[in-house]
Amino acid sequence: MFHYEDIRIAIGKGRILEQLVPRWLEAKFPWPLEPKSRQLWFAGSHQGPGAMIVRGPDVATLVARGAADIGIVGTDLVVERGAQDILQVGDLDLARCRVVLAGMSEKRPDGPFLVASKYQRITRDFLQRHHLQADIVPLSGSLELAPLIGLAPYIVDIVETGETLRQHHLIEIETIMLAHACLIANPAHWRAKPEVVAIRDRLVQHLA
Ligand code: PRP
Repeated sequence: MFHYEDIRIAIGKGRILEQLVPRWLEAKFPWPLEPKSRQLWFAGSHQGPGAMIVRGPDVATLVARGAADIGIVGTDLVVERGAQDILQVGDLDLARCRVVLAGMSEKRPDGPFLVASKYQRITRDFLQRHHLQADIVPLSGSLELAPLIGLAPYIVDIVETGETLRQHHLIEIETIMLAHACLIANPAHWRAKPEVVAIRDRLVQHLA
């Protein structure tokens, strides 16, 4: 018999949260928040863990520091963080998307160029792998604006349906990585709390 009262899971806002909730209920964990609730957390109970709803990049921070036992976050953000202080313990069939290089034409840049992105590390690694010279303009959202307003002709951003790129007349030039939601755990809690492993098993069984 597991005791979930003290177990906390951090969940990334936005596309992961939207796609997760119906399937969380299928996994028979309680989700006591109203659909449009602005509440950012609920406590654990004997039936399931408590949850905290945070911005994607903060999921790993909460897990690494032990404020959450387990987290649900995109693999893009795990790679971007590049941290050794969390464990990736499962993959979920949720929020499947890709990180792409996009621009106003499908032509790959040849000379030095500017690229706007919230993925500094992923962009840097991509540039290095392809021997491309570029300066990265750091933005934290609304990347699609950058080429339109003359800030940077290229962007590295996440694409799911492609609709946002289309609406801004941008073209995918190259896929840099495929991404999906995954489960991460605090290493010490993963070893010490059997409930964390039980939650992983239940979520992976229902959401893989
Ligand atoms: C991402 C991305 C695009 C959009 C792509 O933003 O930056 O704007 O989703 O999705 P699509 O291909 O289905 O149109 P997100 O909504 O995750 O918000 P963010 O800018 O805060 O990351």
